[in-house]
Amino acid sequence: QANERESLYLVSEFANTYFQKILHKTDQGKSIGLSYFKERGFTLETIEKFDLGYSLDEWQAFTDEALKQGYNIDYLQKTGLTIVKEEKRFDRFKGRVMFPIKSMSGRVLGFGGRILTNDKKAAKYLNSPESDIYHKSNVLYGIYHAKQGIAKEDNCYLVEGYTDVIQFHQTGVKNVVSSSGTALTSEQIRLINRLTKNITVLFDGDAAGMRASLRGIDLILEQGMNVKVCTFPEGEDPDSFAKQNTLEELTSYLNENAKDFIQFKASILFEETKNDPIKKADTVRDIVNSISKIPDRIKKEIYIQECARIMDISEDVLFSTLAQINKKEF
Ligand code: CTP
Ligand code: MN
Ligand code: MN
Ligand code: MN
Ligand code: MN
Repeated sequence: QANERESLYLVSEFANTYFQKILHKTDQGKSIGLSYFKERGFTLETIEKFDLGYSLDEWQAFTDEALKQGYNIDYLQKTGLTIVKEEKRFDRFKGRVMFPIKSMSGRVLGFGGRILTNDKKAAKYLNSPESDIYHKSNVLYGIYHAKQGIAKEDNCYLVEGYTDVIQFHQTGVKNVVSSSGTALTSEQIRLINRLTKNITVLFDGDAAGMRASLRGIDLILEQGMNVKVCTFPEGEDPDSFAKQNTLEELTSYLNENAKDFIQFKASILFEETKNDPIKKADTVRDIVNSISKIPDRIKKEIYIQECARIMDISEDVLFSTLAQINKKEF
């Protein structure tokens, strides 16, 4: 079993080297893949730092090369790099730019591949399937490159996508990781918890990003961590925003707009319906419910006080609501 996992690592590492070689050394790679990355504003240094690559627009170019180099078809199949169907073999990734996904220690676990067209019928990103070395719920894209920055800044920015991580690095913000399309999990938060107690959620400025940020809050609080949320202007994501701004502009935007979770919830759940008492009651209950997840009693109390202030409601009522919620959970 340990041997098999090692074989999956080796074939993934081979694929990583191969996709980079295709990107940098072939006509198709250069004219399609490399120019795509450059149009997105990635420098060669950034492209190399993140081991970005390209998969040829052919049915089995990668698989043929891997077999020729002696890699076993079983492992190619188990990593999902090769799809075997009725004795035929196909490359999973075809005509896509490639983002290798690495573990905390830098081993390649899987890949995300992006199409280059804006064809709405095809999935924009295709990802490696789960395997013995790639468990999506335990992996954060960018953790290998971010771990030092997270410890140094004692804070971790959490974004949605591959390109958000990469563009932040290029702009100079290095304490950033991405949940990469899967809904944020407790295991992912636990990985961050080893490095810092502070997370700032930076999801896309759209309805989906807003919902995802809300979902993430309680998971983070449950682990006794501090959570802030910073939103971006409608239609922007961390990548597009960072691209338009200098490091100074980006960091001051982040510092000025990061709200603690109570301010964030109060602003989105309540802002537009300030005069509706039922909406206000729902918002208060929602916030107290989040506060109930915090293990530390002192922090709980401080947040209750803040909630009372922001929502203009008595602390007594909030404490009894908290007691009710706690009772229900037992
Ligand atoms: N994602 C995915 N499959 C999709 C769409 C998205 O796995 N079909 C994941 C990817 O990890 C992606 C992240 O969800 O990076 C966020 O999605 P989205 O905001 O749509 O993509 P961006 O990262 O902004 O990608 P791009 O800028 O290249 O459009
Ligand atoms: Mn490299
Ligand atoms: Mn999005
Ligand atoms: Mn996005
Ligand atoms: Mn984007």
